[in-house]
Amino acid sequence: MDTLASYDELPYDSLPLPETQPDFLAAVATLHGFDAPDPTQARILELGCASGGNLIPLAWRWPGSECVGVELSRVQAEAGADFIRHLGLSNIRIVHGDLAALPADLGEFDYIIAHGVFSWVPPAIQRALLDVCRRHLTPYGVAYVSFNVTAGWARLRPLRTALIERTAADMPAPARVAEARRVLAELELEWTDPVLLKEIAYLKSAAPSYLFHEYLAEFNTPTRFSEFSARLDDHGLRYVGEAGPRHAVVELEDAWGLVPESMAGRWLDAEAALDEAHVIRFRRALIARADAPCARPPQAAALAGLAFHADLRSDDEIDLETASEQAFVNPAGGAYLVAHPAMKAAAMILSAAYPAALAYPELLASTQHALADYDAGDFDEAAFRDALFPLVMAHGVTPSVDTMPSVTEPADRPRAHALARLQASSSGWAASGVRHVALELDEPGRILLGLLDGNRTLHELAVVFRDVLADAGYEQTLETVQAMTHRLVWLFARQGLLTESPRSPGPQ
Ligand SMILES: C[S@@+](CC[C@H](N)C(=O)[O-])C[C@H]1O[C@@H](n2cnc3c(N)ncnc32)[C@H](O)[C@@H]1O
Repeated sequence: MDTLASYDELPYDSLPLPETQPDFLAAVATLHGFDAPDPTQARILELGCASGGNLIPLAWRWPGSECVGVELSRVQAEAGADFIRHLGLSNIRIVHGDLAALPADLGEFDYIIAHGVFSWVPPAIQRALLDVCRRHLTPYGVAYVSFNVTAGWARLRPLRTALIERTAADMPAPARVAEARRVLAELELEWTDPVLLKEIAYLKSAAPSYLFHEYLAEFNTPTRFSEFSARLDDHGLRYVGEAGPRHAVVELEDAWGLVPESMAGRWLDAEAALDEAHVIRFRRALIARADAPCARPPQAAALAGLAFHADLRSDDEIDLETASEQAFVNPAGGAYLVAHPAMKAAAMILSAAYPAALAYPELLASTQHALADYDAGDFDEAAFRDALFPLVMAHGVTPSVDTMPSVTEPADRPRAHALARLQASSSGWAASGVRHVALELDEPGRILLGLLDGNRTLHELAVVFRDVLADAGYEQTLETVQAMTHRLVWLFARQGLLTESPRSPGPQ
């Protein structure tokens, strides 16, 4: 029961995790030739869901889905259940319990999510987790299981060993984190390995819960990809694909001559070699039942059936006439070099439409128009797909099976949806955008989001906001607060936190 105690004592930051959202998982499965279930009507199970920061926004987004979270830490499970009660959601529940002892009548699920669990639990719970996937997946269901990979963790092992050896295991968690930070400062002076120094620099400002549960946890067992896929075999499961960013993709040149099973065997060997070559430390594996059809390496041709969204910007003036490389960045700090003129145009078109997604034919047509407007000439569709593919695999552009309309401009009387307003007023919760991205707000941001009930114009909001800020100790002129209100309301609109009016259908 150490896991339970440690997560009760220092709860994990429970945030929306974009790479676990089922519309993205279905899109990744599609790229692998695997037909995953409709996420909007799905049964979704999350194992080790902490306080539901990931699962609750999914249940909110898809009222036709049914979501179940399982969490061993009572403190976290109860925090999640309280939040759900306040929100009044009826399509989600969080069960306080052990994933190894699930109620027999839980039924089957189209999606099973286990993020940050597999490598951090004892071997018996690892086996139980894979058993749950086998027993509770629907025939075409997809499970997402993330794990630490040996190739990358071998280099980091000395850091975990030193932190464990130099901090007392019986200290309360917050004190042990403080002690670990002191040890990091010592190690920074003692060590010269650039990989370890880079990790130390990151850990010095990382969330205390990350430092504690990753580096000081009783279990952190990295696994080789080959071992992981052998364990899937043992549990009647098979690999579908990788939901993490990929900067290299396996291609099997003579794949057409291979039967699916032997193609899968060669592909898995190549995936294992890729981990070593790229020193991969973390994987997000998509898994299906062994009796489901075989998936294959991802194919650019499958992009044509998907929709895409992207939140990119570039500090350069975009050159649509030449194939010069230009850097685009996203708010999470991801940087992507794009050379193909059509892809530069597509990145700008998607970013202007964000958070909406554009279906492939619409993206293609808009890109053709943009290039024609700039007299940049025509382009070949196969080249467009080939340029889009690596950007999608690297997560610069996100694929989805759902275009999902959203309010992209604030109304005269802006209104945030009820989930965002409850997140804003609940300490420790991040607001979740419609694209399942965590928006960490400062105190003024939280206050304003909580005020957006659709009853005030922007001017009225600024006046009330100024008074509330003054009461909270932030004295500002009305002009400054008006500018801040305008900026934040547009940011909320871009993150899909706004809804139209109290009368519009769907979640309010
Ligand atoms: C590292 S945290 C990850 C939390 C969340 N999935 C995320 O990624 O933000 C691991 C979670 O798994 C839970 N957990 C560990 N063992 C479990 C078990 N046997 N049954 C259910 N939950 C478990 C822990 O309490 C903790 O909340």
